[in-house]
Amino acid sequence: MGRILVTGAAGFIGSHLVDRLLELGHEVTGLDCFTDYYSRDLKQRNLDRALSHGRFRFFEGDLLRSNLDEIVGGVDKVAHLAGEPGVRASWGERFPVYLERNVQATQRLLEATSRVRPKQFVLASSSSVYGADNGGPAAEDDPRRPASPYGLSKLAAEELVGLYEREHAVPATVLRYFTVYGPRQRPEMALSRFISLAGRGELVEVFGDGTQSREMTYISDVVDATVAALEAKPEGAARVYNVGGGTRTTVVELVELVGEMMGERVEIRHAPPAHGDVRSTWADLERAARELGYRPRVSLEEGVEEQVRWALAECARRRTPSIV
Ligand code: NAD
Ligand code: UGA
Repeated sequence: MGRILVTGAAGFIGSHLVDRLLELGHEVTGLDCFTDYYSRDLKQRNLDRALSHGRFRFFEGDLLRSNLDEIVGGVDKVAHLAGEPGVRASWGERFPVYLERNVQATQRLLEATSRVRPKQFVLASSSSVYGADNGGPAAEDDPRRPASPYGLSKLAAEELVGLYEREHAVPATVLRYFTVYGPRQRPEMALSRFISLAGRGELVEVFGDGTQSREMTYISDVVDATVAALEAKPEGAARVYNVGGGTRTTVVELVELVGEMMGERVEIRHAPPAHGDVRSTWADLERAARELGYRPRVSLEEGVEEQVRWALAECARRRTPSIV
């Protein structure tokens, strides 16, 4: 058992990781500043369970401004999940926000962490570092040519982690998550939006013709991989792993699946293709299986059903017709 810092603890993935680490008996420190990317209410709700736990302490603070020495002091391991997500919002005026929250924040955290000699630093990176697909599964050493400013900012964060590993001996692991879904999914992501709109009987918006495909990864599988990376023995250079769900779907098929799970016919309205949206994502999971023992366990059907169930329960609890 150890003391683990989770940044982005109030977010979708971070809050699930916190819950699992507490179940496993760890002391967990959470940090989050409740950015305005989506509603603070949803993030606070994500933390409900953890906040009543005796082994959890929470700092509300920004990685860009907080006294990080105080926060990382006494920490053995760091899971760095805080960041500005979202591929499509990263163009234009918002790019500086991506640089601050994905690049500068990571550098500040690595500086402070290097002073406490941690046993492991895990970075939540993204499939978006690969860019346009090559028609087959992407392996970790394949070329990285991001197709969006977001992907570029995540690639820069990966490079920083490698730099601090080499020059400041911070043992590190980079995880490239592929489109994560499940309860608490961010409200602007495809599946959240489709469930919400279908629940209100409205048209769902599909960018482009909807034949673009995604490797989708259920949240508990992502947490499994992240825990395995936190537990892995660091060996020399920073290791990089794809974390995928082992199943792929087109966007149109995803809409159909939502309809099936909700028992409704869901109508589509097509919108122009989104800039920076890659045609397909596909993870080669061989390295993660061999070295982390990672195997995705939740099928797309089971996972979507679970997210629909959660979303409907949240609506009922809040007495609103929509999750977001
Ligand atoms: P999220 O927005 O739900 O969580 C991120 C959290 O980080 C938010 O609660 C936000 O308030 C916090 N945060 C951001 N900047 C901060 C700062 N400077 N200081 C303190 N807190 C800050 O997003 P998510 O979907 O849970 O993603 C978590 C991480 O995983 C991100 O780094 C994202 O890039 C990465 N990722 C996500 C996916 C996915 O499909 N959700 C896929 C690949 C990679
Ligand atoms: C997701 C996350 O949002 C990123 O944070 C993450 O880094 C990335 O996965 C990753 O794998 O690395 P994305 O694949 O764009 O990005 O996820 P969604 O927002 O769920 O979109 C999936 C697909 O549905 C995209 O092709 C998108 O254009 C489409 N979409 C989305 C729609 O057609 N309509 C919508 O309303 C929303």
